[in-house]
Amino acid sequence: ELYNLRQIEADTKVHGVIGNPIGHSKSPHLYNAAFKSVGFNGIYLPLLVDSVANYISTYSSPDFAGYSYTIPHKEDGLKCCDEVDPIAKEIGAISCMIRRTDDGKLKGYNVDYLGAIAAIEEALGASNGAPASVSPLAGKLFVVMGAGGAGKALAYGVYEKGARVVVANRTYGKAEELASKVGGHAIALANLKDFHPEEGMILANTTSVGMKPRTEETPLAKEALKHYALVFDAIYTPKLTTLLREAQEAGSTIVYGTEMFINQAFVQFERFTGLPAPEQLIRDVLA
Ligand code: ATR
Repeated sequence: ELYNLRQIEADTKVHGVIGNPIGHSKSPHLYNAAFKSVGFNGIYLPLLVDSVANYISTYSSPDFAGYSYTIPHKEDGLKCCDEVDPIAKEIGAISCMIRRTDDGKLKGYNVDYLGAIAAIEEALGASNGAPASVSPLAGKLFVVMGAGGAGKALAYGVYEKGARVVVANRTYGKAEELASKVGGHAIALANLKDFHPEEGMILANTTSVGMKPRTEETPLAKEALKHYALVFDAIYTPKLTTLLREAQEAGSTIVYGTEMFINQAFVQFERFTGLPAPEQLIRDVLA
C-alpha cells in the first residue's frame, strides 16, 4: 500500500531514487502514487546504492528507464552518464538521469534549480501579471546568496531567464568565480547588507544559514530586506526560516523551500513519463 506498486509486466518501466541512506525518502511513495494516477506503466523504487558505477553497469537493460539522485551520489551519478546536460555539467552534480528510448544512452540533468525558478516565477507572475511567454525574471536584479552546488544552479538558471545576477558568498573568491560565468557581480556576503543599487530586487538564499537546529540565524540582516520585492529560501527545515519571516515582516513576497521541492517533482515526473504532472496529487502526498 505504501508504494502502491502495480503489477509488473514485461514493458513496465523501472525507476528509482539512488542514495545512501534512502529509507527516509518520500520519493517512492510520491512517484508510485503519481504514476498510478495517470495510468503510466512504471514503478519507482528506493535504491540503497554504495557504488553508482557498479549499479549502473549491472542494471543496464532498457527496462531501467530513469533515476533520481540524492545524497551522497549526485556527483558520482554525473560520472556515470553517457551525456550530461550543460547546466548539470557546470554545477558538477545531477539530480536525475533518463535512459533515451532510441539508443539506450543515459542522460543526466540537474532539475533542482528548475523547481526553485518555477516557484519564483509563479510568485512573480501572480503579482505582476506578466505574459507567460516572457519570464517575469527577465531584467530583474537577482541576488544569490551562496556559491555552492545550489547557488551555482540558481545563478545559471536565472541568468538563462534574463535576470541580472549578483552572487554574494562568505568566501569572496567563490562568488567572483561564479559571477564571472554568468556575467554578474560578486560581493562578500558580509557586505550585502549595504548593497541596494535599486529597489524591488529578488533575493535567494542557498547557504545553510538558518537551517535546523540553528534556526535563529539568518544570512542577511532584517534592515536590508526592504529592498527586495521577493525572497526565496532553499532551506525547508524549518519551512518558515528567520530570513523568510523577517522578509514577510518587511513586506516582501516570500517563496518557501518546500515549493522548490514540489516543483522539481513536477519536472522529474514529466521527464520520466512524458506526461503532465498530476500537480494536486503531488502536493497532497508531500503536504
Ligand atoms: P549546497 O550544495 O547546498 O549549495 P555547498 O556546496 O556545501 O552546499 O555550499 C554551501 C554554501 O553555503 C556555500 O556558499 C557556503 O559558503 P562558503 O563558500 O564561504 O563556504 C555557504 N555557507 C555555509 N555555511 C555558512 C555560514 N555559516 N555563513 C555563510 N555562508 C555559509
